Formats: sequence, structure tokens, C-alpha cells
Amino acid sequence: MRERETLSSRFRVALLGFGTVGSAVARRLVETTAADGGALPKFQLTHVFDRRADEKRDAWHAAGLAARCESPTAFGIPGAAATPGAPAGGSPGLGATPDFHHGPLTWTTRIEDVLQSDADLVVEAIGGVEPAADWIRAALAAGKSVVTANKQVMARHGFALLTLAARQGRQLRFEAAVGGAMPIVRALGEGLAGDRITRVVAILNGTTNAVFSRMEATGCSLEEALGDARARGYAEADPSADLDGSDARAKLAILCALAFGLRVDPSHIATRSSAWIAADDFARARARGGTVRQLAHAEYDRAASVLTAWVAPAFVTCHSFFGKTTGAQNAALITGAHSGETGIFGAGAGGGATAVAVMSDIVAIARDRSAIVPPPVLTSDFRVQIADLSAETSALSVETPELHVETSRLLEAV
Ligand SMILES: NC(=O)c1ccc[n+]([C@@H]2O[C@H](COP(=O)([O-])OP(=O)(O)OC[C@H]3O[C@@H](n4cnc5c(N)ncnc54)[C@H](OP(=O)(O)O)[C@@H]3O)[C@@H](O)[C@H]2O)c1
Repeated sequence: MRERETLSSRFRVALLGFGTVGSAVARRLVETTAADGGALPKFQLTHVFDRRADEKRDAWHAAGLAARCESPTAFGIPGAAATPGAPAGGSPGLGATPDFHHGPLTWTTRIEDVLQSDADLVVEAIGGVEPAADWIRAALAAGKSVVTANKQVMARHGFALLTLAARQGRQLRFEAAVGGAMPIVRALGEGLAGDRITRVVAILNGTTNAVFSRMEATGCSLEEALGDARARGYAEADPSADLDGSDARAKLAILCALAFGLRVDPSHIATRSSAWIAADDFARARARGGTVRQLAHAEYDRAASVLTAWVAPAFVTCHSFFGKTTGAQNAALITGAHSGETGIFGAGAGGGATAVAVMSDIVAIARDRSAIVPPPVLTSDFRVQIADLSAETSALSVETPELHVETSRLLEAV
């Protein structure tokens, strides 16, 4: 009975950041409720916080989405069309407007408006470490659950934030921080929690994978492939964090916490840049029946308490799981002591795909507001094995029937 009441009441969501991910989440919040016929909890988008809130609000209105969640007259926008069925002269943020799907929506540049609001949940889609981490902390302290897409924050402050969430009796979920729409956080944190995970090998950066796939398919240079990725919306103006591996190693640090219970500083993960890969490397790889992918690899020897973790461009055979992962896709092979290998694959980047992961977290919290996913029990009692990725004769190589990963030959060739 109590659960039914919870589901039928509106779940109030506030958004921090209205960029690629934030705006896609807002769309999903509005469209899901309109199109879903009540299968999901009912959401109310209450606040959008952004440093350019006015501009973003105008774009939102221009896209015609405002009518689904707010009274246009509520913001004094001259000439805004009235929502069908809306009472005349609706006022901002005051009272419910029952004929709208969502009720009034506040656009603001003041974080206090969100922290002091009655929102149940805050979505952090700002990016960067600070002030995003501080705002997540403040939202949890204000009694709100939080969903974040921010790998840098979770890699650096995840444990403390999850502990704070548990102490506050709220949830912090972060599926979108790793792997876009590929649900690897749930796979490791819940689906395979009953196993002892020994290894995770993954493609975790959709931008680099889109660039490498293009180079593989056309023989073009990295710069040309980057231009194509930008045109398709897979790469930002500055893709250095994607290519140099720092994006993937932050994600790998999060996966090490989930898979092995280890608190790993991302800067301790050996990382080799993908920015130096050239058309020649693909030609050489092709001659050997393979191609090049940016891989993130973590393997934990529990008996010896040694973690081997690295991110690097690597040779993979064409018919392997990773060789077949093309475009902005992500993929992961998780090895468990009892379950063997589990493969997972999905759209790794883009607002729409990432919004799916954010929405899934929102839905999970809205369906069970009282459920707390406890933070992983992390240990610092282990040694990170130095993976010398700059050495010409790197010993890093992994081979199984399903997977063929080898860095040594490629590194020798450069
Ligand atoms: N894009 C993807 O495919 C993807 C995939 C997975 C995860 N993520 C993660 O999702 C998060 C958001 O990424 P995004 O691609 O949506 O970034 P984005 O397009 O740059 O959006 C960020 C938004 O936050 C605003 N903002 C930034 N700093 C702010 C501040 N200090 N105060 C107020 N507003 C601020 C930005 O305003 P301006 O427009 O003025 O800059 C922008 O509207 C990041 O953590 C990212 O790693 C993204």
C-alpha cells in the first residue's frame, strides 16, 4: 500500500547542468512520462540550474518542450503559446497546474534554489571535479538523492560521497559515469556481486573508439578521423582527455572499486596515450589480422594483493570481441572466478545514450526511495603493479580464446 502511494506520487527531479547530457535527461523526463502510460514513476522536473540558464531556457522553449512541463506564462515569456488546457495567467512556481504534465519549472543560476527546494533527487551533469563534487555533497547533506554522470568526481571522491549518502539515508547512483548506456556499474555492483571478479578488460572511451574505427575503415589519419567524430557529435573541441587515456583511467578506477573493492588513485594507473597512433599502425595491425583499440585492463591477484591496471592502445584480432566493437560503442569482458567470462556491450557516448543510464538510476531511486546501495568496502591494502607501457618490450599481454590483447608488438613497432 505504502509502495503504491509512493509510485503514484510525483518524484521531483532537479538538474544541475543543461548541456549535452542534462538537456537529454530533461527530454527523457518529459517524454517518458508523456509516452509511457504510467509504467514508470511519474516525474516532475522542478529545477534546471545552469550558468546560462536564461539561454538554455529559451532554447528549451524554442524546441517546443516547455509545453510539456511548465506554463509558458509562468516565466513572462512574451508571445509564448498557451499550453492546451492550461488555466490562464499561471504564476511562476506557485501552486500546481494540473493540466500540465509536470507543473512549474524553475530555471536558475543560483545553486541555493536547488538545495533549498523540495526536489527529491538532484542530477549532476555539470562535469569536472569542483564545484561538482561540492554540489553533490551539499545536495546529499540537504537530504536529496543524487544521480551523477561524472567519472572524475566518482573516481576521486566516490567513496566519501557514497558514505555520506548512506549516512544521510539517501542514494547516490552513477551508472552514466562509466560506459554510457552500457550498464557495467550495475553488472559489477549488483549482477555479478555474487562472484569473485578477477579481471576486467574494456573499451571505455567512445570517442577514441570512433576515431580508431574510422582509421581502420578508411586508412585516414587520426586528425581526419577526429574531424569526422566531431561532425558526428562523438568528440569535443578538445579531445585530449579521451585520447591521452585520462578519461578511461578514471572510469577504470571506478571499476576497480566495484570489481575488487580497491580504492585506486586514477593517476596510479599506467596510461599510454592513443594520440600517437597513425595510419601505419593500422596497416601493420591489418597485416597481422587485427586492428587497434584503446583498452582499459585491470587484473587483481588477491593472494598476492597485486593489482595490474593500465590503459593503452593495443593490438586486438579483428574477430575478437573488442575488434568487432566499432564506432562510439563501449564493451567489457568481466572474468569471475565462478561465472567465467561475461561480455557487455553498448552505446558509450552521446547525450541520448547517456541519458538512458541517468534515467535508469532515477527510476531505480524513484521506485524504492528507501533502498540504499551500500558503498563498496574498499581496501588500500594492495600494491599497484607498475606496468611500464613505455618500454619497448612491454610484458603486458593477455590471451584467451575469446580475447586477444597484446600491447608488446604494437609498442615495439612505434
Ligand atoms: N557527453 C557525453 O557523451 C557523456 C557521456 C557520459 C558521461 N558524461 C558526463 O556527463 C557530464 C556532463 O557532460 P556534458 O557532455 O553534458 O557536458 P556539457 O555539454 O559541457 O554540459 C555541462 C553543462 O553544465 C554547465 N556548467 C558547467 N560548469 C558550470 C558551473 N560551474 N556552474 C553552472 N553551470 C555549469 C555548462 O554550461 P556552458 O554551456 O556555459 O559550458 C553546460 O550547460 C560530465 O561529467 C561528463 O563526463 C558525458
